[in-house]
Amino acid sequence: MDILLKNGYVVDAANDFEGVADILVDKGRIVKCAPGITEPADKVVDCTGKTIIPGICDMHVHFRDPGQTHKEDIITGCEAAVAGGVTAVACMPNTVPVVDNAETVKYIIEKAKGAKARVYPIGCITKGQNGEELCNYNELKAAGCVAVSDDGKPVLNARLLARAMVKAHYAGLRVISHCEDPQVIAGGIMNSGEVSKELGVKGMHRISEDISTAREIVIAGDLEMPIHIAHVSTSTSMLLVRLGARYGAMVTSETAPHYFMLTDEKLRLRDADYRMNPPLRTEDDVTAITEGVCDGTIDCIVTDHAPHAPEEKADFEKAPNGVVGLETSLAATLTALYHRGKITLKRIVRLMCVNPRKILGIAGGNFGEGEPADITVFDINEEWIVDPEKLHSKSKNTCFKGMKLKGRVKMTIVDGKIVYEDK
Ligand code: DOR
Ligand code: ZN
Repeated sequence: MDILLKNGYVVDAANDFEGVADILVDKGRIVKCAPGITEPADKVVDCTGKTIIPGICDMHVHFRDPGQTHKEDIITGCEAAVAGGVTAVACMPNTVPVVDNAETVKYIIEKAKGAKARVYPIGCITKGQNGEELCNYNELKAAGCVAVSDDGKPVLNARLLARAMVKAHYAGLRVISHCEDPQVIAGGIMNSGEVSKELGVKGMHRISEDISTAREIVIAGDLEMPIHIAHVSTSTSMLLVRLGARYGAMVTSETAPHYFMLTDEKLRLRDADYRMNPPLRTEDDVTAITEGVCDGTIDCIVTDHAPHAPEEKADFEKAPNGVVGLETSLAATLTALYHRGKITLKRIVRLMCVNPRKILGIAGGNFGEGEPADITVFDINEEWIVDPEKLHSKSKNTCFKGMKLKGRVKMTIVDGKIVYEDK
């Protein structure tokens, strides 16, 4: 046997197990998860006092590879992933060129063979992300895509989106929708409200997100086809997802830690590391998103890991949107939700490990016999301060810089191999 993890506090939500147990791993697979395993192993790791969950699957990251590898590439993106306890990522297709053909998908899959985490490409909904002509979903699926999205750009034509939802469904791919109305945004750079007014910068009105979320859910409900709503950030969108799911639309959704931790007050610093799209909103939104995450209306916590180089982020108003997040997502979630008594560990495991894989059709996310041996071990009480310079990502644009977080990844195992250790 290859590895035996001894006496960790195991949280295996999919198998409804939580308690002290051992995990035996061999040839990249889980052999057994039970208390008191005595079989010998090449490596025995004492996990007393540590928490063990199935490896995190982050279904929304931007790795900039091909085309903008000065920001991040697949190898460094995966270094950042495993340092954050993330063993699988789904990469958004807004690379250069965009992922709208089998050849680019194959490039990503080939390069990912040398990476520390599992990489699942997401293809475009439309060719060139132009919102005009649908991609060939059977071709994208056959090449290895797990979903389609025009992330960063919404599909404005509702008829085309409806056709995409039907065709993607029959190809076995979920449509992930970036909900935004660019005519409402009209050049805005942060949430439209008191703070944008005081700063004298153009705001992005919240209805941009809300009307698109409503449209997506109405279409999904009418077609009886699934839709996944990316990065929910407003209280109204949260309510729409809640109503949609309640009334039978096949809607799943995600949010990112910054939407339940930070508000647009941060923008007073005039620092582009607090700018992303959708933008940080208000206290009411943070409350609504927190409720949705904790009561299970939101299905997944993702990062929207969006690396940008320091020189690109230097100018507050001209900088591109996006923040890195892979190395802080678990710690941020534990700090904001678990340590404040708002959420259980089992719910966190569903949000970060189980549901993303279910939505994308990826194996794993639990410690059943024969499952892939992708494992995250962390110290739930260790405190640390986020230092951008210590991140493994090529880019340092974290909106959690300087914050004290409680919970630290100690070891990450992918395919039965230890790929990260915090020493
Ligand atoms: O903040 C964002 N950054 N939002 C997006 O939708 C795209 C992303 C990026 O690619 O940088
Ligand atoms: Zn994104």
